[in-house]
Amino acid sequence: MVSLKGKDILDGAQFSREEIDLIMEVAKDFKKKLAEKPGGLDLLRGYVMAALFFEPSTRTRLSFETAMHRLGGSVIGFSSAESTSISKGETLEDTIRTVDQYVDLFAMRHPAIGSAKRAAEVATHPVLNGGDGAGQHPTQALLDLFTIYNECGKVDGATIVLCGDLKNGRTVHSGVDIYKHFDTKLVFVAPEQLAMPREIVEKLRAQGKTVVETTSLEDAIKDADILYMTRIQKERFADVAEYERLKGSYILTREMIERLNPNLTVMHPLPRVNEITTDVDDLPGAAFFRQAGNGVYVRMALIALVLGVI
Ligand code: NCD
Repeated sequence: MVSLKGKDILDGAQFSREEIDLIMEVAKDFKKKLAEKPGGLDLLRGYVMAALFFEPSTRTRLSFETAMHRLGGSVIGFSSAESTSISKGETLEDTIRTVDQYVDLFAMRHPAIGSAKRAAEVATHPVLNGGDGAGQHPTQALLDLFTIYNECGKVDGATIVLCGDLKNGRTVHSGVDIYKHFDTKLVFVAPEQLAMPREIVEKLRAQGKTVVETTSLEDAIKDADILYMTRIQKERFADVAEYERLKGSYILTREMIERLNPNLTVMHPLPRVNEITTDVDDLPGAAFFRQAGNGVYVRMALIALVLGVI
């Protein structure tokens, strides 16, 4: 039997198809249970999760915390490193070793690639990576998959367009590692400077996946089932002028959707800056706020599974 008990959740590539299916099944079940019993469940009474966020976050931190509370557990943590001993010079490893004495699992976000793995190496409790710099964001990728199931009914056969900052966007890096388990066509739309890293494209092709790269969002939208827009990741740019040049590269409008593909499902991990105009929001296919809501069910599933309580 497939089990995630005791496991860390560090990147999108770690999952087998069976594990992905299990997470989706459990998330679906929690969604149903919460609809029947909005006050939440009592599975994790007495359990404590550390939410250690060294980088800004709205959805990831708050949905992790909500997930833990809805399961009946509680949360300690911080939302910036300034208020912690990191500002006195403590290392990430020592902070983790310390908090490991207090909690049953960690959800963490940190600006350095590989930081969640470093934390997992010293923690005795499971570490759930809520974003490590421009590296990975596996829990987001799983809630994105859950959203596709909910919005489209199925994943196989879908053409998924990923658009924006594919170089620095960690959600798409984890996303393709999840989508590769399905019969999907992947289309990458980005300015040349922000293209999906070569090694990721080559790995997908070597695995037999259909990958198309283009700079034209309009062409890509026409045949898409799902358009996944992303923010240009300002905080990863060494050169502000380069960011200013690229920030308006792709802007999705209601007019484009109505003209090119009225059935389009539009997703975005959020926050959006200017890449989706607000007149898109009340189209039936605008799924991005529902997507943010799905974060709670998927994170409830991950927490319960790594703690081995279901
Ligand atoms: C994303 C992130 O932090 O990587 N947001 C999120 O977790 N929902 C996307 C982004 O910041 O652009």
